[in-house]
Amino acid sequence: MSLLSRKATCNSHGQDSSYFLGWVEYEKNPYDEVLNPKGIIQMGLAENQLSFDLLERWVDMNPDVSGFKREGKSIFRELALFQDYHGLPAFKKSLVDFMAKIRGNKVSFDPHHLVLTAGSTPANETLMFCLADPGDAFLLPTPYYPGFDRDLKWRPEVELVPIQCTSANNFQLTQSALQQAYQDAQKRNLTVKGIMITNPSNPLGTTMSPNELNLLIDFIADNPHMHLISDEIYSGTVFNSPSFVSVMEILNHRNLLHSQLSNRVHLVYSLSKDLGLPGFRVGAIYSQNDTVVENATKMSSFGLPSSQTQHLLSAMLGDHNFTTNYISENQKRLKRRHKMLVSGLEKAGIRCLNSNAGLFCWVDMRHLLHSNTFEAEMQLWKKIVYEVRLNISPGSSCHCTEPGWFRVCFANMSEDTLNLAMKRLKDFVLHSATGNRSSRSTVQYSNGNSRRSNSLAKWVFRLSCRDREQEDR
Ligand SMILES: Cc1ncc(COP(=O)(O)O)c(C=O)c1O
Repeated sequence: MSLLSRKATCNSHGQDSSYFLGWVEYEKNPYDEVLNPKGIIQMGLAENQLSFDLLERWVDMNPDVSGFKREGKSIFRELALFQDYHGLPAFKKSLVDFMAKIRGNKVSFDPHHLVLTAGSTPANETLMFCLADPGDAFLLPTPYYPGFDRDLKWRPEVELVPIQCTSANNFQLTQSALQQAYQDAQKRNLTVKGIMITNPSNPLGTTMSPNELNLLIDFIADNPHMHLISDEIYSGTVFNSPSFVSVMEILNHRNLLHSQLSNRVHLVYSLSKDLGLPGFRVGAIYSQNDTVVENATKMSSFGLPSSQTQHLLSAMLGDHNFTTNYISENQKRLKRRHKMLVSGLEKAGIRCLNSNAGLFCWVDMRHLLHSNTFEAEMQLWKKIVYEVRLNISPGSSCHCTEPGWFRVCFANMSEDTLNLAMKRLKDFVLHSATGNRSSRSTVQYSNGNSRRSNSLAKWVFRLSCRDREQEDR
């Protein structure tokens, strides 16, 4: 007899993925400008650290809120005893208003349809527990957020079937890819309970087009036993056109908001990315299906945001001047960072998918692979982690079907650190391109004294000169 449970000893958690292994390597040798300047720079973590000053200034200007006071009187005991799993009504109201504001107030949300959770992680898992039995399947467009293997598969035991999207059309969802995934699931005798999307996408950093969203709505309209979950955790990070369109807007546009079909569409949201507060553990499920809301609320006993967190954030998100300014300033800062990353990569001769949202870029390094295989992708990834000392996430960890794509994060570090990372990468590409004869392990990539002896190196050089000229203008 085994000492521990199957759950505790199985490895469907996904912990062994290179996505998480990169974090482990980073922890062993983390970059610090002063203490460890040769350390690994963390570019595998989708954290938003760009607007902390705005949050800190609000907290400073509202000392009563963080001091647990209302109109000068302590509410410490009230908060300490509050344990209603329906959540603080004032917080739920502020949160739905914030969600509507991010969507340009084109849709409104009713707080009675909201279930609070300790982040999007338990929100997604809870939805699996509500919608699927062990062994049932969800279809997901690839590439997808590696954490879904943990959140949807590990405890709920749901099977994930990839909808294979490719670079041929910039990884957009197509009718044929959707049908193919459904057929693959049927061949495996799986009961498909729905489709799971992230909009904007992690790892692509792109928003879904109305066409793609309509395709999904049509698909679940044709399959009345299926649900559509839209994880919109990055909805407030859209910094360039096209603007964000939520699946709720599509339902509204098609007059389906109060139809039976809308009972099968569920949103997931969290403040981990848009407000940059993953440590506060605040997320939510939004569903018009009363049974889902009722059961998810009962399940939320296993993981709710604390009452003092709800109290603080209900005041912060209830401050409409603050949220208006925060949303636009945060997007401006993300746009600037995104531009820095894209031009830094270009100087290294590396391009990425055109993107308009998120905290990362989907970077094309196919030309740096020795062969068009996932083994070559892992070889390149190891070089980038151990030699260039950047932790980025290989596409294979996001279930991408084409080797050579990587997710690179840009909002969890200072501008100086991002510049250093780009310099290291450019030096690496130049050394690789010149077929550097010296042993790789002895090369200091941040010194960059390579001879530009072949065409790729010349191309990189030309790009960087062109960029410098543009900057000088
Ligand atoms: C698409 C997506 N969903 C969920 C999560 C988990 O977020 P949370 O910190 O709110 O649990 C992440 C985090 O990276 C994510 O990218």
